[in-house]
Amino acid sequence: MIETLPIDITKVAKSNLENIDFEKVVFGKTFTDHMFIAEYSEGRWHDFKIVPYGNLSISPAMSSLHYGQALFEGLKAYKSPSGEVLIFRPIDNLNRLNLSARRMCMPELPEDIFMQGLSTLLDLDKDWVPNTEGSSLYIRPFMFATDEYVGIRPSDTYKFIIFCSPVKSYYTEPLRVKIETFYSRAFEGGTGNAKCAGNYAGALFPAKQSQDKGFHQLLWTDAREHKYFEESGTMNVFFQIGNKLITPELTNTILDGITRRSVIQLAKEWGIEVEQRKVTVAEVIEAIKNNTLIDAFGAGTAATIAPIAVVGHNDDIYTLPEISQRELSIKILKRLNEIRTGVSSDPYNWTVKI
Ligand SMILES: Cc1ncc(COP(=O)(O)O)c(C=O)c1O
Repeated sequence: MIETLPIDITKVAKSNLENIDFEKVVFGKTFTDHMFIAEYSEGRWHDFKIVPYGNLSISPAMSSLHYGQALFEGLKAYKSPSGEVLIFRPIDNLNRLNLSARRMCMPELPEDIFMQGLSTLLDLDKDWVPNTEGSSLYIRPFMFATDEYVGIRPSDTYKFIIFCSPVKSYYTEPLRVKIETFYSRAFEGGTGNAKCAGNYAGALFPAKQSQDKGFHQLLWTDAREHKYFEESGTMNVFFQIGNKLITPELTNTILDGITRRSVIQLAKEWGIEVEQRKVTVAEVIEAIKNNTLIDAFGAGTAATIAPIAVVGHNDDIYTLPEISQRELSIKILKRLNEIRTGVSSDPYNWTVKI
């Protein structure tokens, strides 16, 4: 345990903040003034620094560029009405980062490095945390192998970086999703439950095909039979059928989403029956057809709660109940927002104040 992390800080000569309009930012394209960097070599993390956000100098032989030993996380910070910066469930993200690290043969990151790096960075860039409705500061921690070596083996050296980006909502309209019946994002024994870079690269081609057909995202199904739902894009997926809230159970092919966890906890506390189990494509299509499907939504940090308006399956297109009539997803989003922004108290200790 390092009591106070020795962080070498180099500030920008002039902040770029005055050139940014939080209402006009495009998701993931605007970056705050600074970033946090830590190096790993000889079995330990060292050289902690905060520097102006900018390019890195890397070797063309850097192993992560070739063999994909790279992972990332995504979390958000909000500004409370009194101007405090609140981070949503950061330790959950750290735990998932370390789960990914173990799966990818990468070093785990101790909590004090993560939390002190993050809070020092957010303290410096606190004016970048938007306080407007629907906006937040997206935080991107990531780690990658840096050995200058052409050959497949775990790297001996790594870089861990955190940068931040003020964002508005990820999706600007209700989602049209397509049930994928050929390609797979993950398979048993693979890396589906790790947030490693390769998972996302492999998903691009099938996702692009669905986008070319007018869908926003895919609804992934299991690799073996394409019979069970897994998740959707960078979100976990929920269906309300009758009075029950149903979501695929966690397996090693599904990312253990922190928004998913939060949704389940809130719903259970409201007395809603939540089922985490295998969810078949057939039962959801059946529920759409017989009007017992009341609500369907994706849950993830970037999109928060994204209502699903249309589902495509093979050549069929199903239109789901009117978004404005969906009580549950609207209530969950409202409650999550209240807690994340400190508008109401946080009985779960989900938020961490800087
Ligand atoms: C594949 C995938 N599933 C689900 C999620 C949702 O996870 P979280 O709620 O922690 O953002 C994400 C985003 O991190 C993701 O990339």
